[in-house]
Amino acid sequence: KEIFRTDYQPLPYKVTNISMNFDIQDGYTIVTSDLTIVSNPDASSTTMEDLIFDGEAEALTLLSIEMNEKELQSGIDYKVEGDALIVPHQLLSSNNGSMVLTTRVKIIPETNTQLSGLYKSGSMYCTQCEAMGFRRITYYPDRPDNMAIFDKVRIEANKELYPVLLGNGNKIEEGKVDENGRHFAIWSDPFPKPSYLFCIVAGNLGSVSSTYTTRPSGRTVHLEVFSEHENVSKLDHALTSLKKSMMWDEDTFGLEYDLDVYNIVAVNDFNMGAMENKGLNVFNTALTLADPKSATDSDYERIESVVGHEYFHNWTGNRVTCRDWFQLTLKEGLTVYRDQEFSGDMMNSHAVKRIEDVNALRARQFAEDAGPMSHPIRPESYISMDNFYTATVYEKGAEVIRMYRTLLGKDGFRKGMDLYFKRHDGNAVTCDDFLSAMADANEVDLSQFKLWYSTNGTPTVKYGTRYDEAAKKFYLTLSQESSSDTPLHIPVAVGLLDSVSGKEVVPTKVLELKEKEQTFEFPGLDGDVVPSVLRGFSAPVKLVGSSSDEEKDWAFLAANDSDGFNRWEAGQKLYTSLIFQTMKGAQSGSRTLEFVFEAFRRTLDLDSNDYSIQAYGLILPSESTLAEELDVVDPVALHKARGDVKKSIARQFYTEIRAKYDKLTAAMQGSGDGDIKLDATSIGQRRLRNVLLDYLCSVKDTPEEREVASQLAMNQFQASYGMTDRYAALSCLASMHGEASVETRRDTALQKFYDDAEGDALILNKWFTVQAVADLPDVLHRVKSLVEHPDFTLSNPNRCRSLISAFSMNAAHFHAEGGEGYKFLGEIVAQVDKLNPQMSSRMGGGLIQWRKYSEERGALMKEELHKLANMKPISPDLFEVVSRGLK
Ligand code: ARG
Ligand code: ZN
Repeated sequence: KEIFRTDYQPLPYKVTNISMNFDIQDGYTIVTSDLTIVSNPDASSTTMEDLIFDGEAEALTLLSIEMNEKELQSGIDYKVEGDALIVPHQLLSSNNGSMVLTTRVKIIPETNTQLSGLYKSGSMYCTQCEAMGFRRITYYPDRPDNMAIFDKVRIEANKELYPVLLGNGNKIEEGKVDENGRHFAIWSDPFPKPSYLFCIVAGNLGSVSSTYTTRPSGRTVHLEVFSEHENVSKLDHALTSLKKSMMWDEDTFGLEYDLDVYNIVAVNDFNMGAMENKGLNVFNTALTLADPKSATDSDYERIESVVGHEYFHNWTGNRVTCRDWFQLTLKEGLTVYRDQEFSGDMMNSHAVKRIEDVNALRARQFAEDAGPMSHPIRPESYISMDNFYTATVYEKGAEVIRMYRTLLGKDGFRKGMDLYFKRHDGNAVTCDDFLSAMADANEVDLSQFKLWYSTNGTPTVKYGTRYDEAAKKFYLTLSQESSSDTPLHIPVAVGLLDSVSGKEVVPTKVLELKEKEQTFEFPGLDGDVVPSVLRGFSAPVKLVGSSSDEEKDWAFLAANDSDGFNRWEAGQKLYTSLIFQTMKGAQSGSRTLEFVFEAFRRTLDLDSNDYSIQAYGLILPSESTLAEELDVVDPVALHKARGDVKKSIARQFYTEIRAKYDKLTAAMQGSGDGDIKLDATSIGQRRLRNVLLDYLCSVKDTPEEREVASQLAMNQFQASYGMTDRYAALSCLASMHGEASVETRRDTALQKFYDDAEGDALILNKWFTVQAVADLPDVLHRVKSLVEHPDFTLSNPNRCRSLISAFSMNAAHFHAEGGEGYKFLGEIVAQVDKLNPQMSSRMGGGLIQWRKYSEERGALMKEELHKLANMKPISPDLFEVVSRGLK
């Protein structure tokens, strides 16, 4: 059933308080809920409506229902219709508009493979309720505008198997139940919250703990991070990240933590990254566990940012939550923006962070917004809300928040945030409420800005320039195009560089593009200038210039721009241009090639400590970013062209690259085994060296070259202790084929990596991924054999993603002619849909972009979509994605 944003109605009644009991038995759990229900004064309708409680018929068996302790009769006092429990309104009105409803249901966590509601992951029980998992635990008005106090949540289980019992808020009681080895704990959460933030955990867990004292209140908070015992040595990074997040939110937004306890639990079976349940976050192990031997530098950075993200939700999401699910970006876009800023501060480089975030936005969100799943950051309708936890709601949503910040300035943005919390703390609100707080706090009119919430697709901004020598004036004309009927309000950050000296003559200024077309004047300029437009990527748009000699401007900006982001961007434009020319079969020796060589050499020669910026300056745009610039993509040709450009750069600079690689290797050897430093410089050095290794290994056309390349990668593989360098070397090796000696090296390294993992789930995931994304002629065949590997399973989302989703992103092979890749994915998606619809619909997304490809490819992709569409039964989640894909 499709739900529409404009159909929102407040509840006619609401639950103000709830107490629950979980009786966890082997094979089933009995859930008792006492709901205190009152009629809702905010309700719009005056007519009496029946009380409807959400529940999922397939998950819940109703055992009994009582009102004010009197048993109700089915068919007389209540009825169960489909997924709803319906109680006639007379019951409430005859009790003066207030009553306690008690339900008892039986659920079976042990067979819950959807990983929504209460389920079992390994030996532990845990819950996932966002967006609509609570209705798989008990009957309840399961929507975010019902904020209730969870007075008492009692969990009872076998003490030996489940010694740790956790809930939201504070633990108020615990003890022995009887002589049969059962114990209980009671948790109480003083803050009203929607059901999606509910959580319990029961398991045999180890932990690390610490305390944090908030400023200025001086509240001492107990922090604890839990996992299965074997992983406890990998929890310190998450704990440290939590402390940093707490301190950062106090410093940056004046926001303090509000409970005495903050618990995090790492679970191995989890559909997404992590979940911000009040006082009891649940995290995917992949985003919690880290030591240098098993986690890459990027894993460390992601863990820190996700720990931050879930912590920041405590204010942006939990204290102030969403009125309805269409408002999801209210909490997610804002919280992603906050975690991006946090990471930028922790990395001490906002330019590096910005490059990473914009790369991700372009590769994922732009594609989504150009395809059949395109939607505004505040969607208009959904069948399954879980399908709308998207790059658009999250990442583009964060860009929209960033634009407020750019338009209002640091202090103005902070004033807006302060007013937002002052007005809405404890409430469930809308994106409009956020915008009003920003506007009112700054006394500005943001009504045009509102269009960002309802406009889908990536807008285009074009610019043209003119210099009037006599008047000493420079004119910049900006125009916009988007799916909106009326123009958007777009902040365009611009700086001007003198066209001769390259010096910045006008520092960054934010132009507000509000019309379809607008010309901005810059007076007092003694000579012509080159504009640096959209600095720091000040708006989520595609920028198109109209200069007669664009490449010359890019080369100029790549050399001179003082804005780190745009300097990088200019280099990317040059690489892109060369790759596209190569794809069209243009001759080498062109001027573009010279520009690229010049930019590459300048970056390679840099001798600063900014290794990460240097590394990113040398990396070619990804295939998915390149694909975004094309109307029809031939992934095989694109892959080849990008590879050819990489190779010609590598050949041109082979000696210099090798020298730099060796120099970095020598510099890093000082730090002995296990002593992996995680400061920005060390991370940057590894990043740069691995980019260089990748260039060196791209030279492999002759047996001699393959010998040298595989030997080099093997040396690094064997000499490295840390996962970053080991994995980078293994990636190079995994794509090597030819002579027996070369293939032996590859296979030996893969086997060694597998053996050294000693069953560690996260390392094994990497082992699957590295093979799924390899560039080998028979990669699909290899992936199919890996599906049969004893360590592979479709029921663990991480494992499934590590092989199947990874392969579907290996574009040149997934899209290989003949459609074998599509067929493989289609068949797996069909199997996964029986287990876990949230997973199957995500994976099915790999087939919906058929309009981007040739007719032959498109037809083959559609064939798989049709097969899925005709499958019976099909989950609503997958149905929504597939039918949008076919529309
Ligand atoms: N709120 C969580 C986060 O962003 C994600 C929940 C995703 N839920 C889902 N059903 N996909 O931190
Ligand atoms: Zn979030």
